[in-house]
Amino acid sequence: MNSLKIPFNKPYMTGKELYYIAEANFGNKLAGDGPFTKRCHNWLEQSTDCSKALLTHSCTAALEMAALLLDIQPGDEVIMPSYTFVSTANAFVLRGGVPVFVDIREDTLNLDERLIEAAITPRTRAIVPVHYAGVACEMDAIMAIARRHGLKVVEDAAQGVMSTYKGRALGSIGDLGAYSFHETKNVISGEGGALLVNDPELALRAEIIREKGTDRNRFFRGEVDKYTWQEVGSSFLPGELTAAFLWAQLEEAQTITRERLAIWARYHEALETLESKGLLQRPRVPVDCQHNAHMYYVLLAPGIGRQAVLSELKSNDINAVFHYVPLHSSPAGERYGRVAGSMEVTNKISKCLIRLPLWVGLTIEQQGWVMDVLSRAVVGGVKL
Ligand SMILES: Cc1ncc(COP(=O)(O)O)c(C=O)c1O
Repeated sequence: MNSLKIPFNKPYMTGKELYYIAEANFGNKLAGDGPFTKRCHNWLEQSTDCSKALLTHSCTAALEMAALLLDIQPGDEVIMPSYTFVSTANAFVLRGGVPVFVDIREDTLNLDERLIEAAITPRTRAIVPVHYAGVACEMDAIMAIARRHGLKVVEDAAQGVMSTYKGRALGSIGDLGAYSFHETKNVISGEGGALLVNDPELALRAEIIREKGTDRNRFFRGEVDKYTWQEVGSSFLPGELTAAFLWAQLEEAQTITRERLAIWARYHEALETLESKGLLQRPRVPVDCQHNAHMYYVLLAPGIGRQAVLSELKSNDINAVFHYVPLHSSPAGERYGRVAGSMEVTNKISKCLIRLPLWVGLTIEQQGWVMDVLSRAVVGGVKL
């Protein structure tokens, strides 16, 4: 049994990726915004009900587009969690913005909406909730705060494809939303992402910013007789080969999600015993949230050494991993951002969180082995 090699992640292929890539090749359309990109856009618009979906070459790119679209200026403040990936903050820092880090909730590890208002200053321009593990932030409360203070909301839904909050797709609730199709996500294209534009007034500028600051899309639609440089933008669109790959995945997005949810549920059920013994805490999913099983994590109880548990798993050929180093304690976070209030929860959970292997194809036997080793490691950890 312990000769099993269980990686943390294993990209899932639906089987049609190369077929669609060949189709794109034979169609002689390799640059962006060809037929496969259009299919992906339609799928995203229909399944999320956003006003406009635009494929990008990453979620990072989608967030950078969001910062340009909101016209973030030097000194503008953007409220976000510190417990997130660097791109959440970096996208705004590129425009001279200042990330203002707010603590997270102990249950979902999402931005604590009860702490947002205390962090608002005359310089605040936007709030960036991050839907950790594909579980939604308290979007009703966040949207109400934003509207009350005239702020924009950019949902970092990098991990949230196929998740919903009160029946609405993550990424489609704020003014803008950003998806990731990176190899480590549920639905993938190697590198890849999308910007969901929910405020129709931002749709035209979003197209321009994505196409090097030009109105090229309007030209192709016959709306202008030539295309020209309109504003500051960049090249944010992926080529057709990436879109062709992604299309093969989007077609199977429901199946992928169903299979991941089954694996997630097995972990959740089996680990209840360890939680009831006070050895770890399992993820919490609020009733209003349908998640996508992007991740299964546990929070180890105080006194259990995380590194020892990870090493024990590793020595049994299981690759489990920790997650973010909080941005407020990273060199660039200290230089470019600031903290609003206490970071108690962020500091605490970032030291005790472990993510377990979760990928389509992980067998019941492999999963059983992960849980056996984890149980032994945490029980042993307490005795020490
Ligand atoms: C919360 C969050 N935001 C942004 C990103 C960046 O995504 P990408 O790799 O597609 O740029 C990630 C990637 O893991 C993420 O987890």
